[in-house]
Amino acid sequence: MSQFPLSRPRRLRYTSSIRKLVSESRLSVDDLIYPMFVLEGEGQVEPVESMPDVYRYSIDKLVQEVAELVKLGLHVFALFPVTPAEKKTECASEAFNPFGLAQRAVKALKAEFDDITLITDVALDPFTIHGQDGLLDENAYVMNDETTDVLVKQALSHAEAGADIVAPSDMMDGRIWAIREALELQGFKNTAIMAYSAKYASSYYGPFRDAVGSAGNIKGGNKKNYQMDPANSDEALREIELDINEGADMVMVKPGMPYLDIVLRCKEEFGVPTFAYQVSGEYAMHQAAFANGWLKKDDVIMESLLAFKRAGADGILTYFAKEAAKLLKQQG
Ligand code: PBG
Repeated sequence: MSQFPLSRPRRLRYTSSIRKLVSESRLSVDDLIYPMFVLEGEGQVEPVESMPDVYRYSIDKLVQEVAELVKLGLHVFALFPVTPAEKKTECASEAFNPFGLAQRAVKALKAEFDDITLITDVALDPFTIHGQDGLLDENAYVMNDETTDVLVKQALSHAEAGADIVAPSDMMDGRIWAIREALELQGFKNTAIMAYSAKYASSYYGPFRDAVGSAGNIKGGNKKNYQMDPANSDEALREIELDINEGADMVMVKPGMPYLDIVLRCKEEFGVPTFAYQVSGEYAMHQAAFANGWLKKDDVIMESLLAFKRAGADGILTYFAKEAAKLLKQQG
């Protein structure tokens, strides 16, 4: 028996300088994608009740807010329109209106800022009366191929407005290929696709549905026959592989923290640009704990985001992006 431990891992934790030297992952402001909610009207800034510090902005206010965010170093934004109830229909035609809210928001931001990246959500739930992500048949089943046709029109309208990345979050089969083909044929060869490849039928999306006003009306109550079963992991790899083969430039896993095993497997298996979405419910539960003084806000935000990097994510969609950008700036 030796007089001392054979190895002392604590040596490499002895000073802050040494800890930094051996640190394996790092969070940068460039890793952060800020999801933002867009409203009709002018001069409107509305809080989202279940998401403290998250607001819905009319386009003029959105432009002002993005100017602030750009100063903090953020440059990638994911836009989610809040569709007025009177514009929702069974067939979601507002989704591909060239003068729709998302399309106008993209144009306004692109006119104002040179070096930002805009990601638009391709899915029909903000535009359908029934709150499902696609068109329904007579049994209220989401029809795959008919829905894909509408998603293609929606993605094209986003590209036409100037979106850099379209992000299908609908989980229809074959939609990545259909969208890629249409973008190529219409001359949008540099519009990228971020596929929500492994999107689970999660209960963590509740506050988001409040934010965009699609919560109360989901016909059938859930999205389990198109979004994935939280029990499955191999299936996520099959979904990701399909999307890569269909032309996805980057893939996403969603939700985030409860699904970091999927992020890790995705990165190890495919080595493609891999993103994860720390979703609204994850945000809400953190905020609830901060508000109660049960968790320490700044430290926990940074730890939660660093965990995504450690798992292999190249970037994170997070409602904490603004807060994290401030903290990163403070840390220098
Ligand atoms: C729409 C969409 C959802 C989210 C992003 N895009 C909701 C859903 O699928 O019901 C959730 C994001 C979040 O919870 O933060 N298809």
